[in-house]
Amino acid sequence: MKGAPPASTQMPVLSGASGGEIAQSLSSILGMDHVKLESRRFPDGEGYVKVPPESIQQVRSERVVLVSNTYPDSGIMQTLLLLGAIGDVRKGNLSSLKDDFEDADDVGPGVFLAIPYYGYARQDKRFSVGESGSAKLVAELVSEYCEGIAILDLHAPEVMDEVSQPMEFVSSMPEIAETLQSEVSPDFILSPDKGAISRASEVAGLIGCDFSYLEKTRIDAHTIEHTPKDLDVSGKIVAIVDDMISTGGTICRASDALRRQGAKEVHAACTHGLFTGGALSRLASHVDGVYTTDSLPNPRASVSAAPALARGLRVLMG
Ligand code: R5P
Repeated sequence: MKGAPPASTQMPVLSGASGGEIAQSLSSILGMDHVKLESRRFPDGEGYVKVPPESIQQVRSERVVLVSNTYPDSGIMQTLLLLGAIGDVRKGNLSSLKDDFEDADDVGPGVFLAIPYYGYARQDKRFSVGESGSAKLVAELVSEYCEGIAILDLHAPEVMDEVSQPMEFVSSMPEIAETLQSEVSPDFILSPDKGAISRASEVAGLIGCDFSYLEKTRIDAHTIEHTPKDLDVSGKIVAIVDDMISTGGTICRASDALRRQGAKEVHAACTHGLFTGGALSRLASHVDGVYTTDSLPNPRASVSAAPALARGLRVLMG
């Protein structure tokens, strides 16, 4: 290939604007190279991405993994642009106005997408007539440009049933259990709503401690209510486990219920720490500690998302 400088031939884990640290860890777990693709913004805010010339050959490896979040909205565009650039390079569309590359053979399929935080996951149903089925729409968009997708702790995987590409829904609950066990040693795990029962009970099972759940009604984005329930938590160290924390309302209300029933310590753990609108300071006055993965950069990220994504990618890549 004219113009291509010598490069590593190791299959790469690629990253753009998001997920660089996860990509780095993933590459060590999977025995691949981490290759950072160029990513910046034009003055009007539009995104720009590029496969650097020195990485062209590696991106044409048998298989490549791209780590990219579909959050916030710019993350969706970024993911599509990266997949587009990677796809072009793999098809051999290399000639350009400025660089000394010539078109090459199509190397065929082999692009796998790892999504640490899948944005729009919670718009998983048509709650009201005329709404967009956002969770499925985003998956349909990105699945056009890859051969398989691993998604970490997706809110409601069933929404992806009709998406054309293979998908692996992986969970960081084993790593969260390990961290809670070593940092907190909980006696009791609480799921703050029915939706988190399977995740939280997995953590309780791995730690070997008691488990229960609350029933939650969401009044609006900032207000939730729990149905009162007797919990055997007096004098106990409790960890509330959920898939994500956004406003913190769910955790704060669950913590109030636990404190009223005599819990000695209350901790919160989740995969995705969104922490919108002052959530962290609200949480600081309700819980003794907060633990999240690094699926989204945040000051409480202490658990790596990479092992879980690696489990999914191994299945997808065979
Ligand atoms: C919803 O069912 C999710 O599992 C979380 O419980 C929810 O997104 C948390 O949101 P917030 O922190 O705003 O209460």
